[in-house]
Amino acid sequence: MAQQVIILGAGGHGRVCAEVAVRCGFAIVGFCDPARSLDQVVNDIPVIATDDEALLRAWPDGTQLFVAVGENARRVACGEFARRQGIALAILVDPSAIVSETAAIGAGSVVMANVVINANANIGAHCILNTACTIDHDGDLADGVQIGPGVRAAGDVTVGKQAMVGVGASLIPGVHVGHNSTIGAGAVVTTDVPDGVTVVGIPARPITR
Ligand SMILES: CC(C)(COP(=O)(O)OP(=O)(O)OC[C@H]1O[C@@H](n2cnc3c(N)ncnc32)[C@H](O)[C@@H]1OP(=O)(O)O)[C@@H](O)C(=O)NCCC(=O)NCCS
Repeated sequence: MAQQVIILGAGGHGRVCAEVAVRCGFAIVGFCDPARSLDQVVNDIPVIATDDEALLRAWPDGTQLFVAVGENARRVACGEFARRQGIALAILVDPSAIVSETAAIGAGSVVMANVVINANANIGAHCILNTACTIDHDGDLADGVQIGPGVRAAGDVTVGKQAMVGVGASLIPGVHVGHNSTIGAGAVVTTDVPDGVTVVGIPARPITR
């Protein structure tokens, strides 16, 4: 019998994750989304709950959870809360992705269509690897990292907790992105980025206002 999963979040990201889950062979029980109502059906998937905390406290046995919340801090907090309740977090890897057998992927992470993860890369828990990004050999992403569509992370790149790398950015070999930092769309990161900083442009520099 197919593994069952409930998806928390029925926004754009949640709907994409649901499609990945189906391609992975999961049976989707439903969405939980506080912004929706119980009579709603989203892309043929029913909204079965609107109160995530209540759902997590009365979790149906044998069902996995996938937290499809785009905001990094909220995704990690929710996933960790669920883990403490003993709920199993799904790992979603689209069948079109190429993932090295020597790479590791943490609980609650999603690897979208056409992603490539090369040898000995380590992907933390609650990460989003969005469409067609590449993480080259020995890359290390901490928990809650979000990598945008089409990002190119060369070998030995490290990314700190809950950092966000915007769509189409490139990171040269060995650079480090600090935790909670943001890399702007299309940036080229050529030097380490400290914690909690937003950088943009080519080469990437901190935003000055
Ligand atoms: C970098 C980013 C987070 C900045 O957002 P913000 O803090 O709201 O900044 P603003 O839009 O106010 O822009 C501030 C300045 O930076 C510039 N800027 C913003 N993003 C930029 C980018 N990606 N590249 C170059 N310059 C950029 C703006 O033009 C503006 O310049 P100005 O002050 O000279 O007018 C955002 O623009 C971005 O690139 N986000 C990526 C989102 C993404 O890819 N998500 C993936 C989801 S799937």
